[in-house]
Amino acid sequence: MRILAIESSCDETGAAIVEHGRIIRSNVVASQASIHERYGGVVPEVASRHQLDALIPVVEAALREAGGSWDEIDAVAATYGPGLAGSLLVGLTGGKALALARGLPFIGVNHLEAHIYANWLRSRDADTITFPANAAADTGADEWPGDPRFPLLALVISGAHSELVSIPRHGRYELLGQTRDDAAGEAFDKVARVMGLGYPGGPAIQQAAAQRDPSRKNPFRLPRAWLNGTWDFSFSGLKTAVLHLVEGAQYGAGDGASRYAREGAALAGDLSIPDLAAAFQDAVVDVLATKTVRAAQSLGVRQVLLAGGVAANVALRERLTRDLAPLGVDLRFPPVALCTDNAAMIGAAAWFHLRLGERSGLDLDVRPNLQLPFAVAQ
Ligand code: KG4
Ligand code: ZN
Repeated sequence: MRILAIESSCDETGAAIVEHGRIIRSNVVASQASIHERYGGVVPEVASRHQLDALIPVVEAALREAGGSWDEIDAVAATYGPGLAGSLLVGLTGGKALALARGLPFIGVNHLEAHIYANWLRSRDADTITFPANAAADTGADEWPGDPRFPLLALVISGAHSELVSIPRHGRYELLGQTRDDAAGEAFDKVARVMGLGYPGGPAIQQAAAQRDPSRKNPFRLPRAWLNGTWDFSFSGLKTAVLHLVEGAQYGAGDGASRYAREGAALAGDLSIPDLAAAFQDAVVDVLATKTVRAAQSLGVRQVLLAGGVAANVALRERLTRDLAPLGVDLRFPPVALCTDNAAMIGAAAWFHLRLGERSGLDLDVRPNLQLPFAVAQ
């Protein structure tokens, strides 16, 4: 089954052709990062206006790159939430209209579930694909060689979400813990802005951190919110510590100023951005990795999945790979281009629903606050 998938939940506009929920025939993303960079974040009205212009050319490019025509498409999928309402509307309405015009089945996809299913994707280079015997018939075995193996633990970390989720089988999600304030990606973005590093913040902080001399001890040690006894996260205290350090270094610290403002003031303007970026990244990675490793141990899973834009972070991937290996647990994560928003992951998640006979009506509306469909943990 070949699916045309569309993604437009934030500032990107994506279209992809995905076969059997796993093989990427094409994956086109029109990014607006350079437009939003000058505002230090995404401006919703600007994003949806550009998406209106981008959608059809991006769909046409995806069809062209797949080397096929509409005749080879069996279904259309589009993100219906969570995300920015105006942006979601562009992709969802476009997807429904294309399905209607072509007489194809349509399915709306949960963007967070799609981030998880990015771990099922593989490139179209045939030598990397092992087809199960019955794949052609598309009756599909549930698992192909190389697929993630249930039961799984997923760390879903994006611009708006930070969740630890137990996934015993396809479609069942049990929430272990989540952020109580900022999402991990949001913390990267806000702290990058405070440090003058631009948007999006995650890659900018990673790059700045890589510039420090690792043989020198980092003068900064930033706070970690452990929230012991829970699987929850909190990043707002860490964000505030960075803000106080930077402001202290710029403006000095008065009476009653926080420890971090005083620390910043003591530097008298000599604050190293690479050191601070690395200290921030270390703190986020430390908490995310420590909790994920403990949860993997407590659940007894053999595989852990990373999902969402922050899964692109190299320090996090390295730390988790290292810490999980002695436990005999594999860490899986998509390539960078499939961690951040893209339409191929929408096609992957769509397939697992379509093959169960699920379809969405053309009255499906956007759901800006959609969550993963959590079951109650047993
Ligand atoms: O999943 P995503 O592309 O969009 C949402 O669904 O939110 O995630 C975007 C987030 C942004 O906050 C961005 O700063 C972060 O992912 N991000 C990273 C990295 N690349 C993207 N965070 C840390 N390190 C990275 N290399
Ligand atoms: Zn996303």
